[in-house]
Amino acid sequence: MKILIIGGTLFVGRALTTVAQSRGHAVTLLNRGKTATKLPAGVEHIQADRDAGLEMLATGSWDAVVDTCAYYPRQVRSLLAALPGEPHYTLVSSVSAYSDFTRKGLDESAELSVPLMDDSITSFDRHTYGPLKSGCEQAAGPDALIIRPGIIVGPHDPTGRFAY
Ligand SMILES: NC(=O)c1ccc[n+]([C@@H]2O[C@H](COP(=O)([O-])OP(=O)(O)OC[C@H]3O[C@@H](n4cnc5c(N)ncnc54)[C@H](OP(=O)(O)O)[C@@H]3O)[C@@H](O)[C@H]2O)c1
Repeated sequence: MKILIIGGTLFVGRALTTVAQSRGHAVTLLNRGKTATKLPAGVEHIQADRDAGLEMLATGSWDAVVDTCAYYPRQVRSLLAALPGEPHYTLVSSVSAYSDFTRKGLDESAELSVPLMDDSITSFDRHTYGPLKSGCEQAAGPDALIIRPGIIVGPHDPTGRFAY
């Protein structure tokens, strides 16, 4: 498959890139080129800030898109509007999208935070992160694959949260 990964050079997207390539998929990374100067061999690279226009996507073609760095609903909307065709879309959301993720036994049917859809918001904090992710999920629509991780652990984790 041809897979477009939004991000792909820090932590989660970096791991996804490695796995996808090892399974023979053709990977394109879209990012600003700020986080990594050296890209994995064999990937196609689109250097772009997702907040500054994604017109360049119109000439591409992908079977699937994995979005690792959407924090605002407007980012999901603009990406989906810019994608050619109808590639499968996976959004990396967060367990924080639930209205109360401290409850035990949550599953996909658990209540989400009220989506925060205010497009004027340009930064988030611990109070708005979850509602914004819930908004991203709403913007992604019913056909998207939504992933709601708890704490992700593994190589290149920039947070150090696992050890903490
Ligand atoms: N870590 C956890 O435990 C945890 C738990 C739950 C959910 N999550 C979710 O997991 C996802 C992945 O997190 P992560 O730490 O791997 O990555 P991240 O910090 O969200 O994203 C980094 C990647 O996105 C690119 N990027 C950032 N802003 C961009 C922009 N404006 N335009 C284009 N590319 C941009 C970066 O490259 P450039 O800087 O070069 O642009 C880099 O490749 C996030 O959505 C997070 O909410 C994480």
